Amino acid sequence: MTRIGVFDSGIGGVNVLKKLMDRHKATYFYLGDNKRIPYGSKSKDQIIEYSNQIVNFLEKYKIDFYVVACNTIAANALNDLKKNFDKKFIPVTEMGVKACLENEGDVFVLATKATVATHYYKKEIESRSNKKVTEVAALKFVDFIEEGIDSGDELDFAIKEYIKEANDKKIENIVLGCTHYPMIKDQIEKNLTYKANIIDPADYLSQKISFLENDKTDLEIFMTDTKPITKNMVSKILGMDVTINKVIL
Ligand code: DGL
Repeated sequence: MTRIGVFDSGIGGVNVLKKLMDRHKATYFYLGDNKRIPYGSKSKDQIIEYSNQIVNFLEKYKIDFYVVACNTIAANALNDLKKNFDKKFIPVTEMGVKACLENEGDVFVLATKATVATHYYKKEIESRSNKKVTEVAALKFVDFIEEGIDSGDELDFAIKEYIKEANDKKIENIVLGCTHYPMIKDQIEKNLTYKANIIDPADYLSQKISFLENDKTDLEIFMTDTKPITKNMVSKILGMDVTINKVIL
């Protein structure tokens, strides 16, 4: 029986979970800390503290390994988590970098402020290739998405502002460097004035990951806030009615 812990600052990581569940049978334990979202505007120390609390909670479920389904946590807290817990952690960010390296052309990364502050994507990709990486902190996206706003003029306006440099320079690859952003992928695509290759690291992760699979998939979801919109959105992403357990970290 393989037991996988998947975690994020909110519902964004459910997009990663969905892609994993579609391809791999396992017992999944998902934790989204949506009460304290956004992590993207918090300090590195704060992100490290919260991430440790998340893993501490999930450890009760005898997890075999973790998928860090949050770019912000992976970019800021991965080393600390590895130090504190004797478990394997698969970070979504590493998969994003690998996916970029397999594609031709330069890279434009949309991510949270805290991810961009680490320059994880820029450092990793530029040191391993001759690609040029541009990073933009898309500050408003997570708030829109957690509120259930995934289309409309206000969102289009914000998207146009954030992807301006990509449009101006026609940058070949655009990385959705935050697990919330796949929920507005169509809107981002609609506002591009050229054809870009949009990379969702979760696609690469779900294709490349391998482990001893179970006969069937089971899922337990924990969130720190259980407002109705959260349940609706999680059910929508997973394509099934879900029960969400409220947890206090
Ligand atoms: N979903 C998270 C990520 O992948 C960030 C959302 C937040 O700001 O908490 O980076």
